[in-house]
Amino acid sequence: MDVISSCVQEVCWAPFECCGARCEGYYYAMNHRKILLGVSGGIAAYKAAELTRLLVRRGASVRVVMTRGAQAFVTPMTFQALSGEAVRSELFDDAHEAAMGHIELARWADAVLIAPASANVLARLAGGMADDLLTTLCLATPAPVAVAPAMNQQMWRNPATQANVALLRERGTHVFGPATGEQACGDIGPGRMLEPPALLEALSSLLASPALAGKRVLVTAGPTREPLDPVRFLSNRSSGKMGFAVAEAAARAGADVALIAGPVALPDPGLVKRVNVETAAEMHTAALEHLDNVDVFIATAAVSDYRPAATERRKIKKDQATLQLSLTRNPDILAEIASRDDAPFCVGFAAETDRLEEYALAKLRDKRLDMVAANPVGDGQGFDSDDNRLIVFWPEGQREFPLQSKTSLARELIDLIAERLERKDEEN
Ligand code: PMT
Repeated sequence: MDVISSCVQEVCWAPFECCGARCEGYYYAMNHRKILLGVSGGIAAYKAAELTRLLVRRGASVRVVMTRGAQAFVTPMTFQALSGEAVRSELFDDAHEAAMGHIELARWADAVLIAPASANVLARLAGGMADDLLTTLCLATPAPVAVAPAMNQQMWRNPATQANVALLRERGTHVFGPATGEQACGDIGPGRMLEPPALLEALSSLLASPALAGKRVLVTAGPTREPLDPVRFLSNRSSGKMGFAVAEAAARAGADVALIAGPVALPDPGLVKRVNVETAAEMHTAALEHLDNVDVFIATAAVSDYRPAATERRKIKKDQATLQLSLTRNPDILAEIASRDDAPFCVGFAAETDRLEEYALAKLRDKRLDMVAANPVGDGQGFDSDDNRLIVFWPEGQREFPLQSKTSLARELIDLIAERLERKDEEN
């Protein structure tokens, strides 16, 4: 992927608009990401407004928390207008605590970035203080925390600040910058906050999970259609949403992804090579054609197990009271690929209306899979919905993923696949 280090047009109002595919790196690192932006007191607070705009344009959800000091420089209204979300600053705030309480907010975030981070905030973070909403959130969040220091060069050089920053780094806080240059007070030296595009880049790298970097992943998705005649077919309710989310999550995790898609009404997931097919036989052929050097095969497609033994050339007429259909078994793409001597790491899906665990484990065993993701279907579950839940089984264990959006579920599944793949590689 050719990722730019800053927008070549300086101001990029929409992904892809000015510099095309080169914006994709940012777009896919930030899209759907939940960013908690902490703004503390300092003249650089005005640049946090531009950062908010850039993040939102790249598809991130941004919630802004301001310290009291920050409000002396920029009004909450500015951030509210840019993020489309209410801005918070008080720890004990009845209205907000009734909606998304501070602990929920801390859990909500995929990443916390404090920009600008004043010397005072750095000191309070280093001291483990929770004396306002922002510092409390930093203690309570499981997400990575990053700070973008901004202060006078003498304050930055002060041994107290340096010791605080060293301690924060040691505890895993990411420190973006500061830059060196002319300062608002007229001094020249280190302490300038990094510019918003540089902060966007740093945050994108932090969030880009390299779990499948350098790996090739093949995904099948959606239903297949098995034609009965020129106008009719046998198919199922698969929308392709799960498979497309898996393909995109694998690409975001650094993999080179080919997606064999049955007939679905979904746009291309970015950074993925998409091959459209219609029938199970076409999906079978396309999967084999794209199998070279594949490390992971993820079969999310709901492939028709049978196809009409013959496809009528003309539309079937309703001149008989009953109609007998003769069906032929389709090739089992997953079982065939998993049985090869050079089989990739194979992940199957099991869609079951009942006896979920029993049938899923049978598929794991019979198809000789590395992993099977079982989802309950029927009553609006699994097929065609935006949400899903999974129980994933592998020979030595299992993990349950509660109901959530297919997008976030796919990310968690990809992390698990990367973990098990690494374990398998170590064992071989
Ligand atoms: O597309 P969505 O609307 O988002 O819905 C997602 C889903 C419910 C379709 C998905 O999560 C899912 O469960 N996919 C597998 C559905 C299924 O029909 O599984 P199965 O039990 O028939 O097949 C088991 C596995 O073998 C699957 O990985 C399947 O892709 C694979 N298979 C099956 C038959 C066949 N001929 N070739 C195959 O590769």
